[in-house]
Amino acid sequence: MLFIVSELNVFNSFISEGFYMLTKEQVQQYHSTGYLVLDELFDANEIGKVIARADKIIREWDDGSKDHIFTTKDNDRTGNDFFLDSAEEIRCFFEEEAFSETGELNQARELCINKIGHALHELDPVFERFSHLPVLGDIAQAIGLTTPQIRQSMYIFKQPKIGGEVNWHQDASFFYTTPQSVVTFWFAMEDATLENGCLWVENEGHKGPLRERFNRDGDVTNMEKLDDMPWPNEISGTPVEVKAGSLIVFHGYLPHYSAPNRSNKSRQAYTLHVTDGSTEYAKENWLQSVNLPLRGFN
Ligand code: FE2
Repeated sequence: MLFIVSELNVFNSFISEGFYMLTKEQVQQYHSTGYLVLDELFDANEIGKVIARADKIIREWDDGSKDHIFTTKDNDRTGNDFFLDSAEEIRCFFEEEAFSETGELNQARELCINKIGHALHELDPVFERFSHLPVLGDIAQAIGLTTPQIRQSMYIFKQPKIGGEVNWHQDASFFYTTPQSVVTFWFAMEDATLENGCLWVENEGHKGPLRERFNRDGDVTNMEKLDDMPWPNEISGTPVEVKAGSLIVFHGYLPHYSAPNRSNKSRQAYTLHVTDGSTEYAKENWLQSVNLPLRGFN
């Protein structure tokens, strides 16, 4: 059920039931700036269940390999099957700085996991419920997704001390559709601050071109240059500090980035990438839906 009203009017107590309104101003703000922040949309109880589940998954994760590191610094990969085969799995990836030169973990194992990906929204019951809350469908519809389809989920830890930088990028590079449709739902599971590596965006940057496209051919991937427009930086960019429970929704062309986390606090977030079923999803995208259902918020 979709409501758009002319004044800010949030009914948090109805979130779980799917009774939610975006204001006309919020919808306009999304389209003009490329992103929208819904402060503390979810209460501590709601996100607490998700945080606890992520913690359980990584504590039970039993995988002896130290090769499964996630980094945004190397997009030209060959044969990284653990990553490329994770589209419809639940897998944990280590932080790039998790290991010492001698191969030992630099801190407690549960503090060394970079992220869990990429099908939590279908395969884990706690994440499945949270990812399909009707309120998200209301938001998706209000900002123009007529047939939302959740393509990917990630739980990102941004661990204390070693949480890696995520380079400036546009999510449409990875979820290429014709026409462009991907929208990212970025849920703050903890307070995200300048200190612990909050999200940065380029205000109105979604009005610029798509700079790159990430293509996959079998087990080979490469980042194809599409446009020479320079990336933003920490002068032209805007940090988006939010409280735990907040939701940031942003356009697939919006450049965004997050700095390394050198603080003593993690900066946990959960993300969903959602495309529109009325568009053509490129067969070159690394992530394809083969075995799992492709659903919206229902
Ligand atoms: Fe992103």
